Amino acid sequence: MPLISAGVRSALRELRHELSIQRYHKASIKNARRFRGRSDLKLHLGCGSRYKAGWINIDLQQDADLQLDVREDLPFEAGTVSIIYSEHFLEHLEYPAEVVHLLRESLRVLEPGGIFSVGVPDAEEVLLQYAQGKLPALLQEWSRDKNLQWFPRWVWTTPIHLVNFFFRQGREHKYAYDFETLARVLKEAGFVDIGRRDFNPDLDSEDRRDGTLYVDARKE
Ligand SMILES: C[S@@+](CC[C@H](N)C(=O)[O-])C[C@H]1O[C@@H](n2cnc3c(N)ncnc32)[C@H](O)[C@@H]1O
Repeated sequence: MPLISAGVRSALRELRHELSIQRYHKASIKNARRFRGRSDLKLHLGCGSRYKAGWINIDLQQDADLQLDVREDLPFEAGTVSIIYSEHFLEHLEYPAEVVHLLRESLRVLEPGGIFSVGVPDAEEVLLQYAQGKLPALLQEWSRDKNLQWFPRWVWTTPIHLVNFFFRQGREHKYAYDFETLARVLKEAGFVDIGRRDFNPDLDSEDRRDGTLYVDARKE
């Protein structure tokens, strides 16, 4: 047996990753002081490389306006944010602890009437497609889609490989949502007026239109 087992090596890699996240997060908390005293802020969480002009784009990645770890408290004053948006991000947080913490923090920083607008992969849709035997045909079609070329090749070989990838994406996806579950989580966090909404071309990404569950909720 090697000196360090594969399991320990993986845990050490994870620890090194978390330590670097912590370092960037601490630096970004200082950076966020520039938003003190401001109101009507717009937060774009887990923005990846999709930046929105006029928004505070937040991600673990280096090019974000703030490289914050949103599993921690948000460094914004209560009631200073008018909208919080995220697309294909919430499923990257563990349920319930990390998601519930973020939703409570979101509620704290939102102004009364402020909006939490979220898009996540639609788990109900993919499960229906699997159960109705639609995935084999879709596998053929999607495997040629240039936006999906980054998926590992084995994903296209059987329907359940695709379902696994949808739910796990390596270890990146931590949870899957349908409307009932997402609405319930938002309600438990204290949001009101929770509803499924249509794709909004002014806010959402065209290549996310299909297969995304978009939901809006409001702070009372
Ligand atoms: C699938 S990408 C989505 C990016 C973009 N919203 C899009 O639709 O293409 C998920 C993003 O969430 C970010 N992310 C994951 N965990 C995070 C955390 N704890 N805090 C901040 N960002 C996080 C990742 O760095 C990644 O850019």
